[in-house]
Amino acid sequence: MASSSKTTFVDANDLLARRAAQKRGLISFAGGLPDPALFPKRQLSQAFLSAVGADAVTALQYGWPEGSRELREQIASELAARGASVEAERIIITSGAQQAIQIATTLAGPRPRIAVEPETYPGALEIFRSARAKLVGMAEAAQLYYVMPSVSNPRGQRLSDEERLALFERARHNQGYIVEDDAYAGTRFSTGVDSPLLATHPDRVFHVGTYSKTLCPGLRIGWLVAPKRLAKRALGQKQASDLQANGLSQALLVQYLQSGHFAGLQRRARAHYRRKLRRLLAAVQRHLPQLRYTAPIGGFSLWLDCEQHLSDTRLLEAAIARGVSFDLGHRFRAAPAKTLAIRLCFSAVADADIEPGVARIAQAFAKAFSRRHSG
Ligand SMILES: Cc1ncc(COP(=O)(O)O)c(C=O)c1O
Repeated sequence: MASSSKTTFVDANDLLARRAAQKRGLISFAGGLPDPALFPKRQLSQAFLSAVGADAVTALQYGWPEGSRELREQIASELAARGASVEAERIIITSGAQQAIQIATTLAGPRPRIAVEPETYPGALEIFRSARAKLVGMAEAAQLYYVMPSVSNPRGQRLSDEERLALFERARHNQGYIVEDDAYAGTRFSTGVDSPLLATHPDRVFHVGTYSKTLCPGLRIGWLVAPKRLAKRALGQKQASDLQANGLSQALLVQYLQSGHFAGLQRRARAHYRRKLRRLLAAVQRHLPQLRYTAPIGGFSLWLDCEQHLSDTRLLEAAIARGVSFDLGHRFRAAPAKTLAIRLCFSAVADADIEPGVARIAQAFAKAFSRRHSG
């Protein structure tokens, strides 16, 4: 796996993923990527021309660290439609949701205790680990409680009303803050959306959002609403880290959102991803009956696991040899576990590749865990 003699700063699991990405004809269930077929290329090109043509200075000059006024107003009205009334002034435009999580983590102080679900977003785990956080379970006392209440990654589930209440109670009791990562909220397969936690507890919640999953991640535009008493420090952190989010992306996005095409795109995306999920579930039932899952209500992925002590890395190596890849389950786990788990992202896989891809994983499973290899 790491046999290259060249110096590399990439870890072994990343090397495996990169090797898979370079393999021709590979069917990739890895990555959590939106389907590029949904990128509104023509409308974004028009938005770009309008952004640069109409007001090139706004698009190309340095801007304020909090971001474009129009974009913040747009986000405020999207949040209001979901039941959270927030003044646009309180919204900070960030370089993706990733930076918003990073800012919230920094504000928790040195070596914070951060509560996470047993399986969670690896990009957040990386931020927490690099902040030398102590990761604890959701029932414990913590300074930050990191959750994805509307649609979780990797499981694609929501928090129930009871779970929300218990979370607020715990955070209040421990004087902690909740980091509400709403990255996938706009990807619910049905039209219903939960109101964000921000709506009811604005003083306890860092609310994190992004256009990466519903529009395109290349823009690198997300946002953060920090609790009022931390808002000034949050803005200071934003400014210290990169001065401002990409101004050209913000200007382009404002033009695109004003064109009125976003709602239609989201409708199409919902049907598109629902269809892919249906195909994936049928293929998994057929070829991988030994793995368990709960059907997701949104998001881009299906989380599969079993009770057996099997190595996800060994399975991935066998899968890549058969021309298919997926995300290693252990990367989503806050604490090590020996039981097998994998994440299959259906979002960017061509419809026709879904069933053959799962069949290849089943072959890899049989090969990797045949009696000869098991130990
Ligand atoms: C749950 C979750 N939060 C945040 C992010 C990062 O999003 P962005 O591209 O906006 O930085 C991702 C990306 O995969 C994610 O899955």
